[in-house]
Amino acid sequence: MTDLLIDTSERVLTITFNRVDKKNSFTQAMYADMARQLTAAQTDDAVRVVVFQGHPLVFSSGNDVADFLSAPPVSEDAPVFQFMQALNRFTKPLVAAVAGPAVGIGTTLLFHCDLVYAGDNAAFAMPFVNLGVCPEAASSLLAPQRMGYGRAAEALLLGEPFLAEAALDMGLVSRIVPPTEVNALAQRQAQKLATKPLASLLATKQLMKQGQADLVAQRMAEEAALFRRMLGEPAAQEAFQAFMAKRKPDFSAL
Ligand code: COA
Repeated sequence: MTDLLIDTSERVLTITFNRVDKKNSFTQAMYADMARQLTAAQTDDAVRVVVFQGHPLVFSSGNDVADFLSAPPVSEDAPVFQFMQALNRFTKPLVAAVAGPAVGIGTTLLFHCDLVYAGDNAAFAMPFVNLGVCPEAASSLLAPQRMGYGRAAEALLLGEPFLAEAALDMGLVSRIVPPTEVNALAQRQAQKLATKPLASLLATKQLMKQGQADLVAQRMAEEAALFRRMLGEPAAQEAFQAFMAKRKPDFSAL
């Protein structure tokens, strides 16, 4: 079974996370494939919209923690960073359907999506501090912008999760539906987008993003440099080993 299901129909490219036994955590191979898909879709006239979706019980639990231990992204062009930069540079509409947990990049990728629909079981979390690392995917810039500083601080400093209603309230998601309906809703909305004139979609998205792409790219690079360094430090190593051993991390000496 492949970890990503890729489908194009009626000008909508759908990327379905399909690693449910590992809560749809992302491996390096998945990032590389998603980066390739976005880069190809950017110039493919047969694609006007991209949809990310998961399973009714889980969107994504973020980066594969075992991968962080065995094959950390040490170079600036590691697949995870290529995926983030591809997200930022993607000029066609991005739609996401989120049900269940959305952890780490499972949440931060949503800041780059134009339409996000949530199941009423969606739970968003950016627990980077609890993992001994720092924000990624420009979430240190985009979370305060989208959520306001206070709520971003609770999410990023405390690593506290927030639920679908809070995400709706802060404008991160556009609508909440039952978990089994969220993928279908995202598909319907994507199909609507796909019938609209592409030049108008591109112009409108570009105007709404207010020329932020360079700023976002720069922040992603700054975060990635810190993140790569912190991955090898004792706090992150303790956090990842604790997760794999299903115990609480002990930061008392750090
Ligand atoms: N990386 C690797 N494996 C993961 C994973 C991740 N990010 N998230 C879950 N898994 C694995 C678990 O190790 C477990 O594997 P096992 O069956 O071989 O023991 C399996 O997926 C089920 O996960 P589990 O934690 O038992 O499910 P749960 O329903 O109790 O909790 C989550 C689900 C998503 C809330 C929880 O797994 C979680 O918080 N994961 C997030 C990990 C994380 O910190 N990600 C951010 C990285 S930046």
